Amino acid sequence: MPLLTVTALSKRFGGLNAVEAVDMHVDEGELVALIGPNGAGKTTLFNLLTGVTAPTSGSVTLTVDGKPVSLLNRAPYQVAKLGLARTFQNIRLFARLTVRENIQAAMTHRYHENFLATVLRLPAYYKKEALVGGWTDALLEAFDLTAVADLAAANLPYGTQRRVEIARAVATQPKLIFLDEPAAGMNPEETAALTALIQRLRSEFHLTVVLIEHDMSLVMKLAERIYVLEHGKVIAHGTPTEIQQNQAVITAYLGGGVHA
Ligand SMILES: Nc1ncnc2c1ncn2[C@@H]1O[C@H](COP(=O)(O)OP(=O)(O)O)[C@@H](O)[C@H]1O
Ligand SMILES: [Mg+2]
Repeated sequence: MPLLTVTALSKRFGGLNAVEAVDMHVDEGELVALIGPNGAGKTTLFNLLTGVTAPTSGSVTLTVDGKPVSLLNRAPYQVAKLGLARTFQNIRLFARLTVRENIQAAMTHRYHENFLATVLRLPAYYKKEALVGGWTDALLEAFDLTAVADLAAANLPYGTQRRVEIARAVATQPKLIFLDEPAAGMNPEETAALTALIQRLRSEFHLTVVLIEHDMSLVMKLAERIYVLEHGKVIAHGTPTEIQQNQAVITAYLGGGVHA
């Protein structure tokens, strides 16, 4: 059974079919890319998969301990608890909080504080605090953020903010991470560093990755399988080589030279 199974998933906004009858699956440990022109429905699909938006019809199923669990009708925090994390196309960090605080804020759903224990400062509180602190330090180190840990997120360069956002998603200890255009607005050095970082999400953190990205060199380098979306529909899927040779994709997307 795949880790994630999407069946006949659709989302209408008024008269617009933003996502239409999408079938898709993601196996454990895979890196799957989702590409397509602006407005194709990529972000909407991520929103449907992470509980941000409710679909018009269709199903989304996650395999948990060998059993299918529906992700529909669950709030984002419930989806997060089941092991899904994401970053946003427009960076969403707490601008005035430090890098460390941004990462810790993401862990609250994993380490629910018992209110009384917190107030009374019982041993359980200290244990959790030590856990959160230790895991935060490990993440800061892993994402090369230790030197900026105590700086406000808003004051960091763009590429670093992206790294903080990914670290924050990883902080929730997900199985599956969704990255929405992580290389957008990055310079070539930042993109190269990001490519290495995404590889490490798999090798070191053992995450399954679904990536929306317009940077074709990054997609072709990283993805094992690619789904191509146009006007809400999957018009092609396959290996990077298959996609690069697919006439419908070349016509709709790659050939235009807009983003490739
Ligand atoms: N909340 C919304 N209400 C109405 N239309 C929306 C909403 N979100 C997205 N859309 C529309 O759905 C289509 C797909 O958008 P989106 O998923 O953001 O595309 P992509 O991420 O591929 O660029 C676009 O035409 C967009 O304008
Ligand atoms: Mg988008």
